[in-house]
Amino acid sequence: MSYLPRRRLLGALFSLTVLSFVALSVTTFGRVPEETFQVTPEHGNAPPQQHETNDRRPEVDLTHPPLPPAASEPDRDPVSEEEYSYSPRLVGPPTQSFRDNLRNDTKYITSWPSAGWTNDVMTYANLIYLGSLTERVPIIPMFTPSHIGGDAAPIPFGEVFDVPRFIEESGIEIVEWDEVKDPESNVVDDLGCWNIWEAVQYREHHPRPSAAPDWLKLDLSYTKAPDWVKLIPNYEHDSCSTFMALTRLSYPEERSRNIGHALPSPLHNAVLDPEEHVLCYDYLYYACAQQSYEYDFDYAPMWRYVLRHFHWTQRIELITQQYVREVFELPPGTNMPPFIAVHIRHGDFSNWCWAAENPEDCFAPISAIERRVKEVQDELRERKGLDVDRIFISSDEKDPAWWDQIKALGWRTVDHDAMRTAAVYGRWYPVIIDAAIQSAAVGFVGTDRSTYSIVSRRRVQSWQDGVTRVLKWGFKGADDH
Ligand SMILES: *[C@@H]1O[C@H](CO)[C@@H](O)[C@H](O)[C@H]1NC(C)=O
Repeated sequence: MSYLPRRRLLGALFSLTVLSFVALSVTTFGRVPEETFQVTPEHGNAPPQQHETNDRRPEVDLTHPPLPPAASEPDRDPVSEEEYSYSPRLVGPPTQSFRDNLRNDTKYITSWPSAGWTNDVMTYANLIYLGSLTERVPIIPMFTPSHIGGDAAPIPFGEVFDVPRFIEESGIEIVEWDEVKDPESNVVDDLGCWNIWEAVQYREHHPRPSAAPDWLKLDLSYTKAPDWVKLIPNYEHDSCSTFMALTRLSYPEERSRNIGHALPSPLHNAVLDPEEHVLCYDYLYYACAQQSYEYDFDYAPMWRYVLRHFHWTQRIELITQQYVREVFELPPGTNMPPFIAVHIRHGDFSNWCWAAENPEDCFAPISAIERRVKEVQDELRERKGLDVDRIFISSDEKDPAWWDQIKALGWRTVDHDAMRTAAVYGRWYPVIIDAAIQSAAVGFVGTDRSTYSIVSRRRVQSWQDGVTRVLKWGFKGADDH
């Protein structure tokens, strides 16, 4: 099962062209855009955050970027015309109306993004896991922007994650919305959809908002799900509905008991029950197997069966290797060295510092970060015989004095402003490249309760058999141990 849709191929070839011209010649210190906070109840309505421009100047002249060597290009031949086609789970190329591209012998499932990027990655893994439980082919939307600035363009799932590899490794078939429906289409399709959000929380009296249905030109008619989809009845501090509750609702017997009160769609006033052919849920970030915030735990099935197999595209892997070489000032073409990645989330985590007596007590001090790094180094030496002294750190901390102390330790970071990452690759890439760099580390120190850290930690564990630690925070001495 290996196919490569045409649009991906063109993207891949284009990226190699870009790669051969891009300058990756700056390693300075600076601020990194950040993502996702697990404790935040929701991000959907948060105004997009604009990042201030960094006034630090690159230390290296960028006007004459050196070309990367030929060795940095992938050693595979361009795929020939005949080798790519369309997903066997679809009728053919993308159509104006999505229904024209659905097979009548296949059932589908879809859902929408509504948070920062990492949480949306988790949401799509949940969608795919639920698809495998309900014997349906998941249709994955694009990623829509929030933390990177709401006016950035969406990015296809398959530009970030290697879809053919996912299908092969996981054994789960997926398709993307832009394979199903032509992104240029002007046809607005109606679809009946379950509103889970209103059944699991009590503050917002509408389905979970998402920009994706607008991008996809879908007019949705929502049906509120029954109360029993909520794991903890009447408990306002948890929003989980279990995969099994959602599975129960997706099969005909329970479905027929709970339909008949759909609300009209906003554009066409279409009143449609949640449908059999394309099962639709508004929001699956809060879906869980047995408890909330489950990705942090080793047993989490949606990690083990799904997200673990979200590998970066070959293009992102290549870009990442170039960045790692730059970070550690290694000659072009050298293999990636073993290194330890540190992710320190401060920023809006300061809204969760109520247990700290003084504001400066809230976050773990640099000495605590150093202690965690030392633990990782020790365990790497013991367990793998590796002496690792290369440290890569990313953080949204803005205090130059903090960064001066980090720099004094000899730790490295990427200054994406100086590297012009967003200008060269697009505004999604600083945050994607940081995550990809972290995932390539043999050791990882993350920030407790950051979903960005959680996913990086699990990648380092699963992909690198790496050593990981989590920094506690929130009050003085929180990480003392
Ligand atoms: C399903 O689709 C196939 C191929 O398009 C067609 O030949 C067949 O008649 C359809 N079956 C039904 C029940 O509509």
